[in-house]
Amino acid sequence: MFAYDFHTHILPGMDDGSPDVATSVEMIRRLREQGVEHIVLTSHYYSENESVEEYLTRRAAAYERLMAAPEAAEFPPLLLGAEVRLARGMADREELKQLCVEGTRLLLLEFPYVRHADWMMQEVENIAYQLEVVPMLAHVDRFLAWGLVDKKQLERIIGFEDAIIQINNEAAKDRLTKKFVKRLLKDDFLFVLGSDTHNLTDRAPNFDCMADLLRKSDYEEPELF
Ligand SMILES: [Fe+2]
Repeated sequence: MFAYDFHTHILPGMDDGSPDVATSVEMIRRLREQGVEHIVLTSHYYSENESVEEYLTRRAAAYERLMAAPEAAEFPPLLLGAEVRLARGMADREELKQLCVEGTRLLLLEFPYVRHADWMMQEVENIAYQLEVVPMLAHVDRFLAWGLVDKKQLERIIGFEDAIIQINNEAAKDRLTKKFVKRLLKDDFLFVLGSDTHNLTDRAPNFDCMADLLRKSDYEEPELF
């Protein structure tokens, strides 16, 4: 029913997501139950904390731990990626390309959690053209829900055609963000979905809550691969 979950924190011990392999296994099981066919693993990458190389080494080790679980034989396809916190000057850093979703040019970028500013979309545009990647803008709905973007800024974000918008499933639950998703659907904007799942409690796999909203629309997942 859902070809991809583009945003998850399932890799064990990488960030504030899954703390251990058992939790990761259960998160994957639930996503599968909710009809997700492929899962992209997008642990946080903060450029001020570590180099891309260090991150990739940590990520490889976490992936190996996960795939050593007996349940791994039943996993749907898992693709390695990263959720990269946007920072100034990133467009000059060639090594960031290695953080694209495995086998693609899609780079999941997260705006900083401060009031949105002009430099952010400028940097996103530079990243797209200098690094020749396709920015996937993480949970745009969240910045709207948290009052960090105004109307004009939101138009610039969704109007940048060389990026893809990623929406968190929880957007279906809130009046303001639900309206935003409906508008994206009505005006035929391309967007992809993510659970942004971190755990099995307050940020558990949640494709169920988006399923209802989309059932009533003619949403089609964009073909990105
Ligand atoms: Fe995330």
